[in-house]
Amino acid sequence: MGGESNNHAIVFGASGLIGWALVDQLLSPYPHAGSFSKVTAATNRPLNLSESHWPPADSHRPDLQLVSGVDLRHGDAAALAECLKREVKDIESVTHIYYLVFTAVEDDIEEVATNLRMFQNVIDAHNLLCPNLRFVTFPGGTRGYGIYMPGGTFTPPLTEDMVNNLPPSYAKTVVYPAYRELLNAASKGKKWTWCEVCPDAIIGFTPNGSQFSLALHWAQYLSLYAVNHGVGPNQASKATTVEVPFPGNPASANALFTPVSSKTIARFMIYASLHPETCGGGRLFNIADNEAPCTLGEIWPQLAKWFGLVGLGPAENMQDQDRALNVSELPQTNLSSTPGEYVAKHRDTFAKHGAVNAASGGVGVGSRQLDSVGYWLTFDRQLSLKKLRETGFEGDKDPIQGWLESFEKFRSAGLII
Ligand SMILES: NC(=O)c1ccc[n+]([C@@H]2O[C@H](COP(=O)([O-])OP(=O)(O)OC[C@H]3O[C@@H](n4cnc5c(N)ncnc54)[C@H](OP(=O)(O)O)[C@@H]3O)[C@@H](O)[C@H]2O)c1
Repeated sequence: MGGESNNHAIVFGASGLIGWALVDQLLSPYPHAGSFSKVTAATNRPLNLSESHWPPADSHRPDLQLVSGVDLRHGDAAALAECLKREVKDIESVTHIYYLVFTAVEDDIEEVATNLRMFQNVIDAHNLLCPNLRFVTFPGGTRGYGIYMPGGTFTPPLTEDMVNNLPPSYAKTVVYPAYRELLNAASKGKKWTWCEVCPDAIIGFTPNGSQFSLALHWAQYLSLYAVNHGVGPNQASKATTVEVPFPGNPASANALFTPVSSKTIARFMIYASLHPETCGGGRLFNIADNEAPCTLGEIWPQLAKWFGLVGLGPAENMQDQDRALNVSELPQTNLSSTPGEYVAKHRDTFAKHGAVNAASGGVGVGSRQLDSVGYWLTFDRQLSLKKLRETGFEGDKDPIQGWLESFEKFRSAGLII
């Protein structure tokens, strides 16, 4: 299948949770050899190719160019165009843009303005430089369905049309509606089209951390917890049963949701970009691994088991924590410490057990928000996958698979013990 093409993909945010998986899949090569001839991976933080964990070069793999140090917060479109002309080989041949950049800012309105400016510069620079541009795609998220409102906004399953009914006071705190306006205007009269993909929690690997990776956050917690209780992979005594309670309250443990592995979202973004007639035109698609929703409470024991632990439900004394928290509040917890606090306290243990990249490659500023996941997401928020399935994209997968594949990779990258 396949055949050669001159497709040249550029991935902005290639070091991030979705961006890493996108480059990984393009190089795999997904959907098949020859779909892309060139892949340019642009990162902000420096990334060493030898530590990227991307597939090595072979005769089927598209050519990879890694361009580090592209900080989009500075300058305008003309300056970015100059930078791309200087740094990216064959920039004029770019056909597909995958935009995975996101920067969190304390003030929501400023966050929208900052992120919009970065994306606008990227689009304007490519409109100047790339006459063969055909497709642009970016991820939105369930924040765009109002899940940051205590208790949520819409009754699930969440369907794509609902984004148009967000209360205006909330919509202005989310950047995705502004991205849609930007792409509608910028693609007018051009040869390219675009789509948006909407995930809930994304489960995946990055070699050097990620601000909002729940899988990495919980993996580091469970890894340290296991080792500290004598059940680490290199520890002899595995005789005793070590229990670890779900880090949250019962309502959050039992709320329905539809997570997606970074591999699945990456593959769909590529699939959509190669099917512009059915997936372009500014369409929005929900994405998840499985149409059947699951709960964090049923996932938890399976994650704990991978570390040799027994995952329990929320601790008894958390019944009174059943309330939606503002995400900026710290979770009220009766655990001796939240996963983030526990990891911070025992961070030195990683290096002692050979997890040499764990200290520098954690979740950083996202830690507090990830700690609160088990407390404030107390309501059902599952996505409808009807529109996704109509595209002919792959079918259901076991959502646990993405977690366990990520854990394997974290271990081989020295991010967990
Ligand atoms: N994580 C989730 O579970 C989740 C769920 C739903 C939706 N989403 C959405 O998915 C999108 C991507 O999120 P993600 O989880 O992949 O985030 P991520 O892992 O934090 O990745 C964000 C990327 O943006 C890059 N970036 C940040 N500031 C930059 C700058 N000034 N210049 C250039 N690049 C910059 C980062 O590079 P450096 O780290 O090198 O700075 C990183 O590669 C966001 O819109 C997010 O809201 C994420």
